[in-house]
Amino acid sequence: MLRTRIAGVGHYVPENVVTNNDLSLIMETSDEWIQERTGIKERRWVATDSEDTTSSMGTAAARKAIADAGLEPSDIDFIIFATLSPDYYFPGPGVQVQEQLGLDTIGALDVRNQCSGFVYGLSVADQFIKTGMYKNILLIGSELHSGGLDKTTRGRGVSVIFGDGAGAVVLSATEEEGKGILTTKLHSEGKHAKELALLGPATSRWVDTIMEENDPEDLSYYPYMNGNFVFKHAVTRFQEVIHEALAEAGKSPEDIDLLIPHQANLRISQYIQAKMGLGADKVFNNIMKYGNTTAASIPIALSEAKAEGKVKDGDLLCLAAFGSGFTWGSALIQF
Ligand code: ACO
Repeated sequence: MLRTRIAGVGHYVPENVVTNNDLSLIMETSDEWIQERTGIKERRWVATDSEDTTSSMGTAAARKAIADAGLEPSDIDFIIFATLSPDYYFPGPGVQVQEQLGLDTIGALDVRNQCSGFVYGLSVADQFIKTGMYKNILLIGSELHSGGLDKTTRGRGVSVIFGDGAGAVVLSATEEEGKGILTTKLHSEGKHAKELALLGPATSRWVDTIMEENDPEDLSYYPYMNGNFVFKHAVTRFQEVIHEALAEAGKSPEDIDLLIPHQANLRISQYIQAKMGLGADKVFNNIMKYGNTTAASIPIALSEAKAEGKVKDGDLLCLAAFGSGFTWGSALIQF
């Protein structure tokens, strides 16, 4: 039986480090507030004179993942790109990666599931590989948030949290027993769509109406997040969806060698860790360095965890995410 294994991982983050103290110079905030509420110490924001874009960062991460898998770009037969911050409104960045890597005219799919985008993409790739349709799928999560944040005191509840960066994996078919993705679980609840959203120019809000309104205080251009409300849902849904995956695979929390939760808030990760009775060494966090990089957070964390020797051959890895939509999901992988 065909299964999907993670054959290679890689990540890319822009050079420009923005500390909490840097932010306190441009808005009313403090290192103390940000660290206490979120665990974040610094994040990467693409410098204004940099040529980094969501697609180029995704391509940089992809090159590393392909090399890590011992493959050539030409071995890739499908691209999946997850982001909420594409270079263009359309087309999505999947096709840009196809061009930037100089690939043949292979298919490229864009996933719009925000913080759960990587887990959703993983599940889609798993189905394609298990059916034998593709052998090597490139899955990328990349975000350039910093260009679209309200970096004034007005937007501090959102802007201090988000960072830029990209992560990628190569997913390959294997017949090796006991290897690969055991299960993926996906959910959504659209009634909370506006609790974490960017409602600006869209087909539900025409540009000429916005121009007529011409309101300098129009906040719909910036992401909105009802932080407390999202936090409460996140801590519940994370646990539910991890238990759902464990139950389907006939595993229990003690079987998990490493949990990589989407890096939304260190307090959320710590709460889940405590509720699930996992040791601190069983949960990987790097939000301190990068903030919340949305679709990129899990692959960046996975790439760092592997480089640090924290994910080893045969380990049971659990990935879980929750975010805008709301959407959430989990994956169990025998590494
Ligand atoms: N610096 C200083 N003060 C601030 C800042 C800041 N950066 N931001 C907000 N405050 C103030 C607020 O104005 C408020 O002041 P007030 O009491 O005088 O009104 C006070 O701090 C408390 O604000 P809250 O929003 O209640 O703070 P909270 O403890 O909820 O923390 C946070 C906010 C960090 C956003 C938290 O709610 C959270 O992490 N939520 C979940 C985020 C998440 O999981 N998102 C999902 C993934 S993201 C995606 O899908 C795109």
